[in-house]
Amino acid sequence: MTFGQLRLDGVSRSFGTANALRGLDLTIARGEFVALLGPSGCGKSTALNCLAGLLPLTEGSIWLDDTRIDGRPPEQRGFGMVFQNYALFPHMSVRANVGFGLKMRKVGRAEARRRIDEALRLVQLTEHAAKFPAQLSGGQQQRVAIARAVVLEPPVVLMDEPLSNLDAKLRLEMRMEIRRLHQTLGLTTVYVTHDQEEALSLADRLVVLREGAVQQVGTPEEVYAQPVNSYVASFMGYRNLLDVTVTATAGPLATVEGDGIRLTGANRGALTEGSAKVAIRPEDFVVGDGMENALDVTVEIVEYHGRELSVSARLGTGMPVYFRTDKRLAPGDTVKIGVPAERVLVFAP
Ligand SMILES: Nc1ncnc2c1ncn2[C@@H]1O[C@H](COP(=O)(O)OP(=O)(O)OP(=O)(O)O)[C@@H](O)[C@H]1O
Ligand SMILES: [Mg+2]
Repeated sequence: MTFGQLRLDGVSRSFGTANALRGLDLTIARGEFVALLGPSGCGKSTALNCLAGLLPLTEGSIWLDDTRIDGRPPEQRGFGMVFQNYALFPHMSVRANVGFGLKMRKVGRAEARRRIDEALRLVQLTEHAAKFPAQLSGGQQQRVAIARAVVLEPPVVLMDEPLSNLDAKLRLEMRMEIRRLHQTLGLTTVYVTHDQEEALSLADRLVVLREGAVQQVGTPEEVYAQPVNSYVASFMGYRNLLDVTVTATAGPLATVEGDGIRLTGANRGALTEGSAKVAIRPEDFVVGDGMENALDVTVEIVEYHGRELSVSARLGTGMPVYFRTDKRLAPGDTVKIGVPAERVLVFAP
């Protein structure tokens, strides 16, 4: 099946009086890799299950080009699904698990064998084909689930936190594998995760959700560098979130004060006065004298991260500040740090 785009139009789902998903509008182009990102309970799985046809919509519609599909049962949509909990058939071998969907679709034997072999090769499980799920590691089971979904060469693959149970190394490996599968098979992928690094590294576009509502849709670069509000910023690694008051504005800049500090930053909330929130990424601070937005801090905790140190420090007022540096700092050191105004984002509270 080929299509141009998959479109969600005001897709909503409530459970009783709770709105798990509120009016999701999203157009996904064929071949695109879209990540749904947000904390636990924000509606990611709900959105994916609505797409898959496992959950009826309360409102809205879903379209493949000009065909409305939200009334169709899952099997008629034919989307591939990788569940977080794998959901493998325990009494079937790896090969039979991967081939199950092909059998259901009455794909010929030779053709099925060819496709299963190819899928097993892609997820590097060829030598485990005869094993049963209980004889596999979690990561191997996860790869069986992925092979089972992609072997059908579905028009759209939906993945719900498919790497959540893997160790750090395997997670990185499988992340690349998933991106490679997406590219080589020309898939359209909707990928659910709460891990912003995973979303940033995998997806062409990110959809950031909060309590069922979209906060921002954009490329990784856009969402990372230009979060639209302090919620998205905090999710994108802007670990320093300070409550401040706007005291002056000048063009695109706002000067803010609070708790003994005074900073000039990019006015992202079109603010003129009043309370605001400032977001600064730890890696945007620089240690040294004579910098913009200079702060005097006392180092408290130093974490080793290879080339860099991750430092927790405090201002004179006791307010915590987090920064990264390649300077060898130690607890108790007092240093000056600064940050360019364009890296200080000022949002409405
Ligand atoms: N069957 C259900 N009945 C009632 N409430 C539900 C049901 N399924 C989900 N919810 C609620 O809807 C909201 C969104 O749930 P959802 O599973 O989509 O979250 P999520 O973003 O996938 O979270 P997680 O990262 O923890 O998997 C939650 O508040 C959840 O409690
Ligand atoms: Mg979920």
